[in-house]
Amino acid sequence: MRLRAVAGGGGAMLLVLLGLAALCRNVLLGEPTIQCGSESGPSPEWLVQHTLTPGDLRDLRVEPVKTRVATDYSVLMNISWVLRADASIRVLKATKICVAGKSSLQSYSCVRCNYTEAFQSQTRPSGGKWAFSYVGFPVELNTLYFIGAHNIPNANLNDDGPALSVNFTSPGCLDHILKYKKKCTQAGSLWDPNITACRKDEKTVEVNFTTSPLGSKYRVLIQQDTVIGSSTVTEDGRTRTSVEIPVSKESDGAVVQLIPYFHTCGTDCIRRKGTVGRCLQPDVPNNGSVLEGWLPLLLVLLLVAVWVLVAGVYLRWRHAGRKSVAAPPGTRLLPLLKVLLVHPPEVCFHHTVCSFAEFLQNHCRSEVIHEKWQQKRVAEAGPVQWLATQKQDADRVIFLLSNEVSAQCDSTCSWGQGGQRESSQDLFPLAFNLFCSDLWSQALAHKYMVVYFGDPQAADGYSALSICPRFHLMKDVAALRAELLRVQRQVPVGNRSGARPKSRTCL
Ligand SMILES: *[C@@H]1O[C@H](CO)[C@@H](O)[C@H](O)[C@H]1NC(C)=O
Ligand SMILES: *[C@@H]1O[C@H](CO)[C@@H](O)[C@H](O)[C@H]1NC(C)=O
Ligand SMILES: *[C@@H]1O[C@H](CO)[C@@H](O)[C@H](O)[C@H]1NC(C)=O
Ligand SMILES: *[C@@H]1O[C@H](CO)[C@@H](O)[C@H](O)[C@H]1NC(C)=O
Ligand SMILES: *[C@@H]1O[C@H](CO)[C@@H](O)[C@H](O)[C@H]1NC(C)=O
Repeated sequence: MRLRAVAGGGGAMLLVLLGLAALCRNVLLGEPTIQCGSESGPSPEWLVQHTLTPGDLRDLRVEPVKTRVATDYSVLMNISWVLRADASIRVLKATKICVAGKSSLQSYSCVRCNYTEAFQSQTRPSGGKWAFSYVGFPVELNTLYFIGAHNIPNANLNDDGPALSVNFTSPGCLDHILKYKKKCTQAGSLWDPNITACRKDEKTVEVNFTTSPLGSKYRVLIQQDTVIGSSTVTEDGRTRTSVEIPVSKESDGAVVQLIPYFHTCGTDCIRRKGTVGRCLQPDVPNNGSVLEGWLPLLLVLLLVAVWVLVAGVYLRWRHAGRKSVAAPPGTRLLPLLKVLLVHPPEVCFHHTVCSFAEFLQNHCRSEVIHEKWQQKRVAEAGPVQWLATQKQDADRVIFLLSNEVSAQCDSTCSWGQGGQRESSQDLFPLAFNLFCSDLWSQALAHKYMVVYFGDPQAADGYSALSICPRFHLMKDVAALRAELLRVQRQVPVGNRSGARPKSRTCL
């Protein structure tokens, strides 16, 4: 009721806070922790018969941990375990852990860890299995431990065997954790002599090491199965010391044994080992000067190699470039444009028509149609039908006019089969008359061009052609190419017969 009274203003906020408080209490209630104490004798639960008992532990692990005790360290066991996620967890009250140690001394002790709350769920509210750990039981050096753990209440009155057990063998003083045990530190476990040793020559080994403030006397042995050399070092405080030891045998790969005599351990201190390597000093300056002497020569050789490489690449590139220029017609790009070439009979075939056709094919990616190369089809279809078909197919029709008379005019075209000028005699007037009507149509006029050689008067005889763009070769060669290029851009794809590449370059 009071809640409802405040609900008008900060009510929502209050509800949130109340919700949070409830959640927190749930977490506190639902997350049991452990309270452990020693319990050497049997657990009181053993004396009572239980109908419901918890299952075994799922996992049990042991690892040594370093803990600080006042100014000193001690090493204890971190025993961790995981509970099984089953319904029997509701009756679990405690877990009992017993540790038996086996070294020169026998030891046995147990702890009982009570769970502070009854388990409400098989897993943690955050997910994951219930896991706990207990840090206790001091770890002695080089000892075998048997660690057993079982849940309480036990299943049977007389069943005292541990439900889960592990073995753990503790290492010695050189372990990265056990070295902190007082017994170890007193034996010099925290001293890092950082031994370096090398064979100076057949007769000498140089040994460097860092001395300790714990003592002042050290014995250094060089061993190769047997002792082949030894020396005694006296040094106060912490310092890097160097000693040369005469050896009786080859010392390569020999072992250095360093025996300290500290006040805390006397003759029973931790001994350290190192290996004898090769000394680098005598060779290093020599190697360096040799390299320095050769360096300029090496650089020159490198430069020459780079130059040769670059020249080779350049030559290859040029060769490749030339090759592509002189490529055979077979490798040429596919033609983009169909050009029907018509000319009056007086135009010299070899000298003018062939050259011009070659120019169109090689430099304008044009496929040239000329009656001379289709004589069979012309004969089959008849000249008018053939011309009508070609007019339809061609992208452009070029009237080639010339009044040049050349001495070579009688020779035959190199890539045509015939030299008969007569065959074109009938076709030109026919073509001229056939195409003439198109010349007055705006839509089709762009298709026709006049190209003439020599005298501009060459084109004068055909007044109907005066509306076509005219190109005087070789003067207007660039303009002709540009015009063909323009046409290639304008001609819609649908107007073209067959599938031809759409590239727009006029080479
Ligand atoms: C754990 O519970 C048992 C039985 O209730 C009790 O005798 C013991 O003192 C408890 N131990 C600790 C450490 O709370
Ligand atoms: C003991 O081990 C558990 C599980 O590995 C770990 O969570 C815990 O931090 C360890 N405790 C100490 C003091 O190292
Ligand atoms: C622990 O060591 C004992 C004795 O060496 C051996 O019998 C036992 O199988 C070992 N147990 C485990 C879990 O390694
Ligand atoms: C050991 O000695 C070498 C040579 O003096 C030195 O470079 C290295 O840092 C030293 N290592 C340690 C852990 O002190
Ligand atoms: C020992 O120390 C000396 C002096 O610092 C050094 O010149 C030499 O190289 C060292 N030798 C080894 C094996 O580390």
